[in-house]
Amino acid sequence: MEGLDLLDKYNVAVPRYTSYPTVPYWKEGIDTEEWKKCFQADFAENNRTKGLSLYIHLPFCESLCTYCGCNKKITQNHSVEDEYIEILLKEWKMYRDLVQEPPVVRELHLGGGTPTFFSPANLKRFLTELLRETEVHPEREFSFEGHPNNTTPEHLQQLFDLGFRRVSFGIQDNDPEVQRIINRAQPFERVQFVTEEARRIGYRSVNYDLIYGLPRQTLESITRTIEQTITMRPDRVAFYSYAHVPWTSRGQRLFDENDLPSAKEKLMLYQTGKRLFLENGYTDIGMDHFSLPEDDLYQISEKGKLHRNFMGYTTQQTDMLIGLGVSSISSSGSAFVQNAKTLHNYYEYVNAGRMAVEKGYFMTDEDRRFGQYILDISCRRKTRFQPVDLDTIKSISFPQLELLAADGLVVYDEKGLAVTETGKSFIRNICSAFDLYLQRNNLHNEKRTFSKAI
Ligand SMILES: C[S@@+](CC[C@H](N)C(=O)[O-])C[C@H]1O[C@@H](n2cnc3c(N)ncnc32)[C@H](O)[C@@H]1O
Ligand code: SF4
Repeated sequence: MEGLDLLDKYNVAVPRYTSYPTVPYWKEGIDTEEWKKCFQADFAENNRTKGLSLYIHLPFCESLCTYCGCNKKITQNHSVEDEYIEILLKEWKMYRDLVQEPPVVRELHLGGGTPTFFSPANLKRFLTELLRETEVHPEREFSFEGHPNNTTPEHLQQLFDLGFRRVSFGIQDNDPEVQRIINRAQPFERVQFVTEEARRIGYRSVNYDLIYGLPRQTLESITRTIEQTITMRPDRVAFYSYAHVPWTSRGQRLFDENDLPSAKEKLMLYQTGKRLFLENGYTDIGMDHFSLPEDDLYQISEKGKLHRNFMGYTTQQTDMLIGLGVSSISSSGSAFVQNAKTLHNYYEYVNAGRMAVEKGYFMTDEDRRFGQYILDISCRRKTRFQPVDLDTIKSISFPQLELLAADGLVVYDEKGLAVTETGKSFIRNICSAFDLYLQRNNLHNEKRTFSKAI
């Protein structure tokens, strides 16, 4: 079996493995005192050695893109900026008060929503305050998500002056008809303008987010989008599979489902995109990502040092990620937590002086080891098994691996596993063999929990 048939066979609902255990297995109503203790212990172990990653969720957008699956709040009222900055700083202070020494910030990412909804002056005020009495790691990597329509040269310059060297632009699709149906009018000239400005100012890496599987996308339209994209030579491209989850993202009910490509068409959109990137000098990195050979992500991946966390693939090796803001996820190394998902609850918790976390998970030693197998496969396409897990792996993972090996996607024995060239397009499926929760519950057909692999 090969090509489309294989993609079709493995196009089942599987997680993207930005955490293990995955979010559906976390517990509601997490003990905040327990979380504080985990944070303190993991901070003491990590801060001086590896430093911290910070993720800041800035949820506001001026208009709704109907496909969007992110946590966002649509408003044209910019007075929300001040109040939100104040609450973020209050949340940060709660973490700061738990530890004595200054946090060493190694990685900082502004995500959303739309970070460039905030004015350059407000971003400067917020970041200056956030980083006050912290140490910035010499190998820092500061990045942000910019919407091409409202990223201005002032945003780019202001953030550059604060140490940002990577920007990720949400492109999604350049076709006017697709843009009309997803409610995102975004002229390609605007994309060209912000990309050129970012380069002129000195940004080292420009990423584009593209999505395949959007309503009204065709092979011709995606070919044009990618050909235009390639003319700009973005250093990295995230080529995401459209996740259709109308039960949580209500905006997705605003277009006709009949406008979505069929499963087979979606697979062809993916294959077309992948072929165009590979033919034009890009290399595929892990899941969904392509990069030029000059980019750090490629260099690091060649050295086998790629890392993955909630922010996606990263070149940094921190084990501790603190997420601030509504719906943000933190991972201390021994626990995961997610903040309240509504602005109302988030404000209420932080204003009452309590941690904003609503759900989470304290990891067992077994979770950490199986999480490491999944991370190894996602980042290095190979892993070695620990003897203590062999019985579990043989009974739970081997039956899956046998099927994957029969299709030529992996080679494995009792020592470990390696992904084959063909297997590179099926990383999520391969990881799922080590997801003990998914395997034990046999949730493969639970469509409401995860989106499909492709
Ligand atoms: C939180 S958004 C931030 C980007 C910024 N707000 C913008 O629109 O330019 C991050 C990325 O998630 C991706 N995304 C959002 N909804 C998605 C969905 N339903 N399926 C797949 N990817 C999605 C988009 O590619 C988007 O650029
Ligand atoms: S894609 Fe970006 S701009 Fe559009 S609604 Fe989602 S977060 Fe906001």
